Amino acid sequence: MIKKVGIIGAGTMGSGIAQVAATADCKVKLFDLNQDALERAKAALEKILSRLIEKGRIDEKEKNRIQQNIRYVNSLKELSDSDLTIEAIVENLDIKKKVFQELEGYVNTKCIIASNTSSLSIASIASSLNEPKRCVGIHFFNPAPLMKLVEVIPAIQTSYETLEMTIDTIASWNKTVAVAKDTPGFIVNRVARPFYGEALRMYDEGIADFAIIDHAMKSVGGFRMGPFELMDFIGNDVNYTVTETVFKAFYFDPRYKPSFTQKRFSEAGYLGRKAGIGYYEYDDNGKKVEDTTKDTNAFAKSSSRDSRPKGEQSDKADEKAIFDRILVMLINEAADALFLNIASAEDIDNAMTKGVNYPKGLLAWADEKGIDWCVNKMDALYDEYREDRYRCSSLLRKMNKEKNTFF
Ligand code: NAI
Repeated sequence: MIKKVGIIGAGTMGSGIAQVAATADCKVKLFDLNQDALERAKAALEKILSRLIEKGRIDEKEKNRIQQNIRYVNSLKELSDSDLTIEAIVENLDIKKKVFQELEGYVNTKCIIASNTSSLSIASIASSLNEPKRCVGIHFFNPAPLMKLVEVIPAIQTSYETLEMTIDTIASWNKTVAVAKDTPGFIVNRVARPFYGEALRMYDEGIADFAIIDHAMKSVGGFRMGPFELMDFIGNDVNYTVTETVFKAFYFDPRYKPSFTQKRFSEAGYLGRKAGIGYYEYDDNGKKVEDTTKDTNAFAKSSSRDSRPKGEQSDKADEKAIFDRILVMLINEAADALFLNIASAEDIDNAMTKGVNYPKGLLAWADEKGIDWCVNKMDALYDEYREDRYRCSSLLRKMNKEKNTFF
């Protein structure tokens, strides 16, 4: 059983992961090169735990127990007695590789060496070790103490023992584990792309504005946040970079193509909540100022405004059609992830409900809507646009022929 955990990097993710492990009664050493980061992490934990006491979720004794389980250290060597180390430093392959090599020189041969990377391949990180079979991806979601999901990603070098031990450990930390193949975006950051991409595409086509698309996803689909609200929350710079990374990593598959709109918002500094302005405006407390979208589109207001033929212009956007289009693109992506063995059907659905709070698992949603509905919708989009972006997953097509369901 894993009892001693070393965490490398005391930023947003590392400090959250330390809290999770300490709460599960592991002895944690949290390491950062930057002393300020360690002090910030310590102060942040004090604040979080005090708030939990105020809310009645934990008592003073529990707070002390969690705090005493964490030691803040400024030398990597201090992690030498760890059973498991999780790295959460800057997202840079060369830096991560150097740290892994140094770490391997200190820890015992049984220690699992994991990375929390969200975009680098685990195989490339593992290749820096003399014993790559002990390396695995352990991908938490932000904020780590609150989000139930953890993706566990074995590299092609990872041993079965390492994988099993990792799954058991993370499950014992009260998390839901989804095992994902070592491919770009793992499960969540791959399957979720159309939530943003198709919303941006509909905006770019002039089908509806931000507020209408957001409203459609919330009121028709039951999503907690609309795509534009969520992009503002994540940060347009961060979300754009993930999209671009995934697009490049998939050898420019048009399904993942980024949007110029988001790129321009990012370039303009309209990053979302943290900047006070994104697709919406925010006050100093990060609250949306009003429910109307920011007027950022002088071009659309110019005389060339609506280039569509008269018969196709409509003042009233069809919210159900907007929702259906995003949903079917999400389902298609989830089906393709299953088709390509990225994860099991259960893990794909768990990933989306527990990693990004979708109201339902996408494959269960496909069953509910009917596989024929999904295929017909995808084919209608493909017929309209003749773009590879709208190709229907062959798994859906096969299931439709065989009258199968996912569950
Ligand atoms: P962050 O910037 O908040 O924290 C990184 C920390 O690592 C800093 O405190 C920095 O001082 C420290 N650091 C940098 N180089 C170091 C080194 N060589 N040795 C020791 N410490 C070092 O970054 P964040 O957001 O916590 O991300 C960390 C990792 O987690 C990245 O790989 C990122 O892709 C991944 N991730 C981030 C998520 C997020 O929402 N922020 C979600 C899931 C994964």
